[in-house]
Amino acid sequence: MSNKPKVFITRKWPASVEEKLKARYQVTLNTEDRPLTADEFRQALQHYDAVCPTVCDSFPAEVLKVENKRCQILANFGVGYNHIDIDTAKAENLIVSNTPGVLTESTADIAMTLLLMSARRGAEGDRLVRARQWQGWCPTHMMSSDVTGATLGLIGFGRIAQAMARKAHHGFGMKIIYFKPSPADQQTIDDLNATRCDSIAELMQQADYVSLHCPGGEATHHLIDQKMLALMKPTAHLINTARGDVIDTQALIQCLTDKQIAGAGLDVYEDEPNVAEGLLALDNVSLLPHLGSATIATRTAMGEKVLDNLQAFFNRQPLPDRVV
Ligand code: DGY
Repeated sequence: MSNKPKVFITRKWPASVEEKLKARYQVTLNTEDRPLTADEFRQALQHYDAVCPTVCDSFPAEVLKVENKRCQILANFGVGYNHIDIDTAKAENLIVSNTPGVLTESTADIAMTLLLMSARRGAEGDRLVRARQWQGWCPTHMMSSDVTGATLGLIGFGRIAQAMARKAHHGFGMKIIYFKPSPADQQTIDDLNATRCDSIAELMQQADYVSLHCPGGEATHHLIDQKMLALMKPTAHLINTARGDVIDTQALIQCLTDKQIAGAGLDVYEDEPNVAEGLLALDNVSLLPHLGSATIATRTAMGEKVLDNLQAFFNRQPLPDRVV
């Protein structure tokens, strides 16, 4: 009987990381990559020393409060942890860790991809060509908005927002404005020639492109509602690679239907993987399936981060990425 710690992995991970897990622990993998149920999570908490969920696995109080827990750590594969009830985890003496830092550039790349797709009507053009409905080049066909030189407004100004700002400013000559409760550090402001807005409302009014980079959770639930959307320019675009529930989806659908703004680009949704019917019906929204961190290198680095946190935990050392 092995005395290695028992570790439970909720979804399929990159092969090289799964090999390392197998070498270090008595690990249960989800080789079929099947979404698991709340009951399966409860059982995992009862029978394993560590459970490693991902951003699509929900750990509310009803799951975390299961009796006879063996688990002491939720080592999350992902930087966001709004799918875990952190207060309950703390009350239940569960350590939670995440994977910051390694998905910054790839997520910023997807935000920029969506900005370009929305501005230049990329997804719409692709659909048109595939449907064999393209009638040929003409001067007024599918005209769109310029990106170069336009104003990018970032709500939240952490690692990912700043990486996007660098790409937008140094690559596309965009003017950078941001909202975050406290000013960014001077070096970042100087590098990006960035201006802080006093409020989200001010930013919504000034930006040609608004990109969301705040954490999910109660504090930001429907932060972008009908009132905020109404402040945007009719030519503006809204980009979301943060969390779906930061936007009131029904308000956004109405706003896009009424053409109150020019477009939106979304990588995240309320109630993933279910995407609101109203969005699917619209041409002026570009939709991606939560691809922010989905490069081979990034997903492998995220797995390595989880390994580092597990190793520190089992060696009784401080965790590099402890949340609680
Ligand atoms: C995260 O890590 O929180 C991302 O949403 C996954 O891409």
